[in-house]
Amino acid sequence: MPQEFRADPGLEGVIVGRSAISWVGGTTGELVYRGFDARELARGVPYESVAHLLLHGDPPAADPSPELTAALAAARGIPGPIVRAVDALPPQQPPLDALRSILSVLGDGSGAYPPTLEDGYRLIARSPVLLARFVRRAAGQEPVPPRPELGHVANYLAMLRGAAPDVRQVAALQAYFALLADHGMNASTFVLRIAISTHTDLASAATAALGTLKGPLHGGAPSRVSEMLDAVGAPEHAAEWVRERLARRELLYGFGHRAYKAEDPRGLRLHEVARTVADPRRLALAETVEREGLAALRAAHPSARIYANVEFYSAVVLEAIGLPPALFTPTFALARTAGWTAHALEQAADNRLIRPDLDYVGPPTGRRWPRPLPAG
Ligand code: ACO
Repeated sequence: MPQEFRADPGLEGVIVGRSAISWVGGTTGELVYRGFDARELARGVPYESVAHLLLHGDPPAADPSPELTAALAAARGIPGPIVRAVDALPPQQPPLDALRSILSVLGDGSGAYPPTLEDGYRLIARSPVLLARFVRRAAGQEPVPPRPELGHVANYLAMLRGAAPDVRQVAALQAYFALLADHGMNASTFVLRIAISTHTDLASAATAALGTLKGPLHGGAPSRVSEMLDAVGAPEHAAEWVRERLARRELLYGFGHRAYKAEDPRGLRLHEVARTVADPRRLALAETVEREGLAALRAAHPSARIYANVEFYSAVVLEAIGLPPALFTPTFALARTAGWTAHALEQAADNRLIRPDLDYVGPPTGRRWPRPLPAG
């Protein structure tokens, strides 16, 4: 007789490991990095310091972290063969697919198992440099070299734009990067930890993680939020638009979350950030769609405890910064490289191959196994 298993398709509430990196308070609406409230870190703490906290366990002695600032600046010098491989990518490729190729190309054979901090610094520093280079070349523009005097987030914007970025926009994107830097055992981090558990290298694990982040049930939602707002067009159409969409059994992007059955704390903070950078008409439209979307979803699923998720106001903030929707999920991934690195190091420090099981429901097993081959 086969052993009996209880299948748990979404692994909801299943504890698959231990971590000291971040805590997601799903019922209280909290996100904590190494004991610090992520919402507070998103009030001006530079990404270098947030990454320092995630990677080293304690905040740096000064902001921005001198150690991370130096390490990331040094890692921005990228070997010619890697740059040439990125330059050979088809320019019509969406930036998210290009970034997946970039992460793969970053695995040039120099990284091995176990992953090191230096592997992580290269991943965090080089991904935005190469993505910005790809985006500019794909648009027929000259690539812009990194600017060592700028912080991580400002440098990314400067490399995309070819001009000094606006201070308010940098502050908004810095808050976004802080809030998106890590999030417990989300789907892409789980995939990354599974990959590391097989003794693969960090670039390979991050490539697998990005492939997972891409899906619209995870990190692929924010550009769809923008499309939704465009389709609604004006606040007075929101209620009807939402009702019709749900009647067609289509998803409302930017709503619902597997872990949060309370307000998503990242969304609350990004709503505040949106008020500082967004066009007031776009913000009013988003707020109406949020209100009508929640009313309709809660009416349809009264016991589900549905709230807007991080992607809803992410879209409004990233639009206001001037990023095109095709760069929303790639930018999410750039922010998440710090969390992915922290999880790779933590997994490798106390590793056991992650290899669960399936509840076999195929043709009978036991004495009638294997099935006889057809005669003839
Ligand atoms: N639009 C329409 N229906 C929804 C939505 C939504 N946004 N969210 C939940 N529901 C429905 C579910 O389909 C389910 O219906 P059912 O009972 O008829 O099957 C019911 O509400 C209850 O759903 P939950 O169990 O609370 O949601 P679950 O944990 O399965 O899914 C998920 C979470 C995948 C994020 C879902 O809410 C969703 O698809 N949202 C839209 C996509 C999105 O915004 N993704 C970004 C997530 S944030 C992130 O990963 C960074």
